[in-house]
Amino acid sequence: MKRSAMYASIFQAGLILALGVGAGPAVSATTSRASIEEPLFAPPLVPPAIHRDHAATVVIRLRAEEKEMTLADGVRYDFWTFNGTVPGPLMRVRQGDTVELHLSNDAHSHMAHNIDLHAVMGPGGGAAATVTPPGQESVFRFKAMLPGIYVYHCATAPVPMHIANGMYGMILVEPPEGLPKVDHEYYVMQGDFYTTGENHAPGLQSFDMQKLLAEQPTYVLFNGREGSLIGDGALHSKVGDSVRLFVGDGGPNLSSNFHIIGQIFDDVNIEGGSLINHNVQTTVIPPGGATMIKLTTQVPGTYLMVDHAITRAFMKGALGQLVVGGAAQPQLYQRVNAPAAHVEDMQMKANDPMSIGKRVFTQICSACHQGNGMGLPGAFPPLAMSDYLNSSPKRAIGIVLHGLHGKITVNNTGYESQMPVFGGQLSDEEIAGVLTYVLNSFGNQGGTVTAAEVKAERAKAVP
Ligand code: CU
Repeated sequence: MKRSAMYASIFQAGLILALGVGAGPAVSATTSRASIEEPLFAPPLVPPAIHRDHAATVVIRLRAEEKEMTLADGVRYDFWTFNGTVPGPLMRVRQGDTVELHLSNDAHSHMAHNIDLHAVMGPGGGAAATVTPPGQESVFRFKAMLPGIYVYHCATAPVPMHIANGMYGMILVEPPEGLPKVDHEYYVMQGDFYTTGENHAPGLQSFDMQKLLAEQPTYVLFNGREGSLIGDGALHSKVGDSVRLFVGDGGPNLSSNFHIIGQIFDDVNIEGGSLINHNVQTTVIPPGGATMIKLTTQVPGTYLMVDHAITRAFMKGALGQLVVGGAAQPQLYQRVNAPAAHVEDMQMKANDPMSIGKRVFTQICSACHQGNGMGLPGAFPPLAMSDYLNSSPKRAIGIVLHGLHGKITVNNTGYESQMPVFGGQLSDEEIAGVLTYVLNSFGNQGGTVTAAEVKAERAKAVP
């Protein structure tokens, strides 16, 4: 079947399904005098806390938009979105508010779309009242009766396809007294994606219905793109700061086993409700579920956020970074190199560039470039037998110091990944060590980078 014909038949099926469950009485789309419009932000940003002491009518405008975007470096995909992002914006309202939701559907859409908000008590969570053909707009009102963090998603048939293409997001209903104050709030949503090509097959990829039916995603991603929360997209905090994460799972199929390597969650709202658990390592979030996580960042460093069904993190993309700045906290965390009897030997050994380099490589570089230096096809370039590295080892100093963006070619393969900035995190000795280690490992040609060379490069203006 041609794609346009398939869309047309799915479109009809969607209308029939959604209209069959009772749309409720129509209301006029005029907004009441006291209505307000809360700002919306692209993920991982979150609207500011609400400071109103009364309920209001809140107008929220969402637009269904079918849009080709990057799924992974070198991989494009026809996403279906709310407001052009995956997930759609996090809406923030207060318990008791009346939400007037305007759902428009882009004139260029091929499909009808609607919205089911789990914060709604009413038929289809709003789906029945919001079936919206291309170029039109639906409006419905609901009262946000119970506080919590809720998923919303498109519920037009075939529902799994609309969700798999990215049509989900979250709505926070704050209790009247608000949420406890924190220093940072972020919005992360996991989803599984099904492409006809294999993982990292380049170019524009189509949706694969067979993989969806088998529940075997090609990608499992945070915020709809591999690397969306890595490097420039990383979440940030400082030593001693508190962080609240609104974490949801759009699915359509896989639960998330959300974990941050090297952190313990102070508070987790169980299943996004009012019951709070403490001291949690990994929290399970089902498709169509969400939670609030509060943690305190106590030790500086780069922490990996993962689905701890860990193959999904390191092989299918469910990987992000939380970067914690601030001074070292040796009373909380420090490396102890060796048993006392061999301290002197080991200190000498631990201070040689190759040992420093191996430690840095293992702790940091291997997360992306892999323990064997082979990288990940399409995502992270290899350091092993790398023509890019061996042709100019000194160039690598600046890359580690300042990061790297844009396209590079390594061993005849193009990469467009984002190398994070490590200049603030690693000393001259550590950068010299890790480059020397890599140059003398993984089949590379050998060579040395000295701390003095790193220091000189660091002294230059940042490019
Ligand atoms: Cu849809």
